Amino acid sequence: MAIPEICLSSGNAKPMPVLGLGLGAVDPTPEIITNAVLDAIELGYRMFDTAAFYQTEEALGDAIAQAISRGLIKSRDELFITSKLWLHDNYGDRVLPALQKSLRDMKLDYLDQYLIHFPVSMKAGSNPFQLNPENFAAMDFKAVWTAMEECQSLGLTKSIGVSNFSCKKLADILAFAKIPPAINQVELNPAWQQGKLRAFCQANGIKVAAYSPLGAAGAFWGTKGVLESEVLMEIAKSKGKSVAQIALRWAYEQGIVIVMKSFNKERLKQNLEIFGWELSDEESKKIAAMPQKRANLAEFVVSETGPFKTLEELWDGEL
Ligand code: A2P
Repeated sequence: MAIPEICLSSGNAKPMPVLGLGLGAVDPTPEIITNAVLDAIELGYRMFDTAAFYQTEEALGDAIAQAISRGLIKSRDELFITSKLWLHDNYGDRVLPALQKSLRDMKLDYLDQYLIHFPVSMKAGSNPFQLNPENFAAMDFKAVWTAMEECQSLGLTKSIGVSNFSCKKLADILAFAKIPPAINQVELNPAWQQGKLRAFCQANGIKVAAYSPLGAAGAFWGTKGVLESEVLMEIAKSKGKSVAQIALRWAYEQGIVIVMKSFNKERLKQNLEIFGWELSDEESKKIAAMPQKRANLAEFVVSETGPFKTLEELWDGEL
């Protein structure tokens, strides 16, 4: 079954598949990434999400080239590719070179979506992979977003957006944006449903994408509150589905774009089988009532001397 698509507000972006494969994982070898992308394309996935920080752009580019040469797809235009700007490049004059480097690494002419990865900068000269509190600096939203708009105007990306932004930080961008963010990619799953943020995004024509739709159980900050949720397990049992399928189906029914992660072909297949059936009202209500907790707090950004002195400030109270 083909994956449904949604339309984005910005530019001449092609419709975005509502389910895709995220490529941000700890220590995946390039072979694992390339093979997972090839498996996914074979199964019918068309949306892939990477980032400069993940160091998986080259492997994704290799997989795309191989998919074309094997005849799995005719051209790169059949895919929807997202990448993200990392913190040391969150400066007005560094955005375009960063995007150009990502494109070179992926051997692509354009991205479908380019996102500001996180709303903070790293000081000049910092090691981009060393997430020490003293390395962070406040981001000049206007300078960075204007440069993102320039990237879209140049045709190097078909749409632009953000990731890990609160309502307040989105409002800051909207106050001056000539091109509003098309999407905000955030942690979102039945254990952290982001009700307030979703309402704000809907009111402002911004689509919401979910990372960690399964709770990122493998990540150091991940939660078992999704895959081991009693509520989800009970629903899964009664419907003859897996807990993962229930969580993904729930996100789909909420109108969320899902950036799912699995490098296992069986689970990639299983996670695709979330269309053509639905949750009952009662099941949706049970999920809506699940206990809520943000798992990815990004505490490492918070410090007495940095731009965010408390978690409250970093997430603008959305905790
Ligand atoms: P694996 O790669 O072994 O499939 P998230 O998308 O929330 O970040 O979660 C990713 C984690 O969820 C990965 O560790 C992945 O492991 C696991 N996962 C993905 N799909 C399933 C599934 N259908 N059932 C159980 N675990 C899954």
